[in-house]
Amino acid sequence: MDVTEQKRQVGKYAAGLVEDHMTVGLGTGSTVKFFVDALAERVNNEGLNIIGVTTSVRTAEQAQSLGIKIVDLDDVDEIDLTVDGADRVNKNLDGIKGGGAALLFEKIVAINSKKNVWIVDETKLADPLGGFPLPVEVVTYGVGHLNTLFANEGLKPVLRTDAAGETVVTDNGNYIIDLHLDTIEKPVELADWLSKQVGVIEHGLFINIANRVIVAGEEIKILDRA
Ligand code: A5P
Repeated sequence: MDVTEQKRQVGKYAAGLVEDHMTVGLGTGSTVKFFVDALAERVNNEGLNIIGVTTSVRTAEQAQSLGIKIVDLDDVDEIDLTVDGADRVNKNLDGIKGGGAALLFEKIVAINSKKNVWIVDETKLADPLGGFPLPVEVVTYGVGHLNTLFANEGLKPVLRTDAAGETVVTDNGNYIIDLHLDTIEKPVELADWLSKQVGVIEHGLFINIANRVIVAGEEIKILDRA
């Protein structure tokens, strides 16, 4: 099964976890895109009655175009279940997210959710975390100085640009600095340090957030937080 097929498989599987009258957090990324497709199918074919809270403009547009009702996070008390992808996941079910630049809204939606489920293909499992740059969302003002600080700490920062060479701007008007670390041996310590730096809005280390990770493959694997 190739990676795209794996993404489709877990996306569809996760859509089966959604129950009538749930408020559902919709993540962002190529795996979640399959989840939203499959969820919309259930809404339209089974009359599943749900409300979605989105983590990006992209996902909101996809969901609404397929007939899923989207409301603002502040219009709901709590989200029952959020389904999101991840860039890397370790054996503690902590992960790197933000490859799609949506980490800030993803984290806000996640911490307001009763249950967080991540859907990943097999390539995302990594212990220690690594093999994928760690995204950090930063204020645009003084970004060069923050970049220098990260470089001096040995964090190998690169300001994210798009295919046309333009600096990527997030849905919230910020920049992303990707830290090209080979591995992250101490994610909790790094997360704490990053959170303390002035100009950092949010980082892509999601610690103690996922309750369950669903891994695609010939046989789907369910990993639950201990
Ligand atoms: C978006 O900012 C990310 O956190 C995604 O959830 C993550 O990058 C996974 O994306 P894919 O499903 O496209 O790999």
